[in-house]
Amino acid sequence: MTLICPVCRQALALNGRTYGCPAGHAFDRAREGYVNLLLRRPGSSVGDSREMLAARRAFLGGGHYRPLSDAINERVQSQLAHRTAATVLDVGCGEGYYLCRLRATLGPARSQSGAILIGVDVAREAVRLAARACPEATFAVADVWSLVPVADGSVDVLLSVFSPRNRAEFGRVLAPDGLFLVAVPEPEHLQELRPLPGFLGVPEDKRDALVQQLTGGFRLVDERVISLRLGLVGDDLVHLAAMTPSARHLSPATLEGLRALAMTPVTAAFRLLGFAKVGPRR
Ligand SMILES: C[S@@+](CC[C@H](N)C(=O)[O-])C[C@H]1O[C@@H](n2cnc3c(N)ncnc32)[C@H](O)[C@@H]1O
Ligand SMILES: [Zn+2]
Repeated sequence: MTLICPVCRQALALNGRTYGCPAGHAFDRAREGYVNLLLRRPGSSVGDSREMLAARRAFLGGGHYRPLSDAINERVQSQLAHRTAATVLDVGCGEGYYLCRLRATLGPARSQSGAILIGVDVAREAVRLAARACPEATFAVADVWSLVPVADGSVDVLLSVFSPRNRAEFGRVLAPDGLFLVAVPEPEHLQELRPLPGFLGVPEDKRDALVQQLTGGFRLVDERVISLRLGLVGDDLVHLAAMTPSARHLSPATLEGLRALAMTPVTAAFRLLGFAKVGPRR
């Protein structure tokens, strides 16, 4: 097991229903199979809310972002093609859509493929939903700005889909020959929703700022853009708006207005960037 104790950073081992470290720190495994490694409760605005997660689950369950998930799976598979064992960590995994679909592609974790899949999110409700949907993976509640709760160099593929990126911690946990795969929105992503009062756009320099932010710890090795033209009806539009970072700024009246809309074309555009760790290779 690659999970580490958030207090002393030694390895955690699962014994019955409790994860414990050699120093005696203990963390209960929840009924759904995840472990909460937060040492203090995060502020109410940290992480996605229950409502955002329900909207995310409903929207992603409709398959609208499946091409992005497929592109992630292809890239991970090509990275792990000749490996008999590997650890994949999805940081800010949300309700688990991308990790669950990856598991289905790789085969059951720890058996056919030898892949160990781990999901981490600061929102307990996200991790609870993800653990229920994907019992073969390991899930932990943690704040990645404090600690990514896995051992140094233990991750072969680190995945971040629209989630926070902590360069120092990500560099610590990624293996020397590992892949850091990042998905970010393109500037035209959801441009049709931008006229809504409170809806946040994507900065034009998002990609360049990301590459810049990671410079020194990571080097860009490949990237591709996935552009989709979605035809969405009222409920899809409400779920989509309610799962974005804009959700906290949109009024109930704005969301209800969306529900009344007939089929609406919406642009979804993502950039998938692969980074290698800078430094000596194994
Ligand atoms: C935009 S959502 C993306 C979720 C998922 N990757 C997806 O695309 O469906 C960002 C996720 O990052 C999580 N998050 C935000 N801050 C975090 C932190 N400090 N540590 C861990 N996760 C965090 C949120 O709770 C949320 O689930
Ligand atoms: Zn400990």
